[in-house]
Amino acid sequence: MRVVITGAAGQLATQVIQFLEQGHEVIPFTRAQLDITDLAAATTIALLEPDLIIHAAAMTNVDGCALDPDASFRVNALGTRNVALGAQRCGARLLYVSTNEVFDGLGEEPYWEFDQPGPLNVYGRSKLAGERFVQQLVSRSYVVRTSWLFGGDKPHFVSKVLRLVDENRVLRMVSDEIASPTYAPDLAQAIVALIQTDAYGVYHLVNDGGCSRLEFAQALLTMAGRSDVELVPISLAEFKRASTPPHYSVLRNFAGAQLGVVLRPWPDALADYFRRVR
Ligand SMILES: NC(=O)c1ccc[n+]([C@@H]2O[C@H](COP(=O)([O-])OP(=O)(O)OC[C@H]3O[C@@H](n4cnc5c(N)ncnc54)[C@H](OP(=O)(O)O)[C@@H]3O)[C@@H](O)[C@H]2O)c1
Repeated sequence: MRVVITGAAGQLATQVIQFLEQGHEVIPFTRAQLDITDLAAATTIALLEPDLIIHAAAMTNVDGCALDPDASFRVNALGTRNVALGAQRCGARLLYVSTNEVFDGLGEEPYWEFDQPGPLNVYGRSKLAGERFVQQLVSRSYVVRTSWLFGGDKPHFVSKVLRLVDENRVLRMVSDEIASPTYAPDLAQAIVALIQTDAYGVYHLVNDGGCSRLEFAQALLTMAGRSDVELVPISLAEFKRASTPPHYSVLRNFAGAQLGVVLRPWPDALADYFRRVR
């Protein structure tokens, strides 16, 4: 299979490329090589005649999105339209990576693929607009929602917390933002399994279970042997930032599970991350 990948230098894409390179022709595009906000990106992609496009490029700085909504929609919505147009022109299948932040987070039960989105913030609204372009323009498409990625080559929550405790014995952590931590290599493997099927549609691919930022930090500090660090719970309202994340956005993988595409519980994935980095 010939596979084009956008956002190729990103945390997730680098993992997907590693899995796909065994057995497929992979054509990775970094932002420098292909800016998806350029309408010509559609032609560039179509001329390559891929069988599949994995669209992982995005403006992922959620606070940056809140501060610059135009940029957020230019990349996440219109940029995704350009990639979808490329897929449409050459008849390629398309996998788009989306987010837990398409939900309002007012629920108390995990969101499954059939729940209505209702994003609260610019990032979530722009990613949802991207989902809609994909669904309108490409019938053979997968929308894969995920959350709280860690374990890739770029800085992520786990590496950032560990860096913070180099200088601080006390950390303030949010206790009322709850979602599903997801190990980037596990998600990459699940995506590679999903694209072997023709079961198009929406998927929630996250490591199983959910926790607050505080519980995630507690778990990772214990596994890192840093139980000496004191964690002080704070609320989302006390944590001043440009973007407001949903309070509760744990995702339930229902559709993927029907195909046997399942991810292990997040604490097991976190333990594996620490085994690998040591
Ligand atoms: N990280 C998470 O916790 C998380 C959670 C839920 C969903 N997601 C979704 O998962 C996907 C992958 O996320 P990630 O964590 O791997 O993100 P990432 O590390 O930020 O990678 C995204 C990549 O997209 C590139 N990009 C940005 N604007 C672009 C443009 N105009 N044209 C082409 N490329 C552009 C970025 O390049 P530069 O580095 O040069 O800007 C970056 O390499 C995204 O769709 C994201 O929305 C992520």
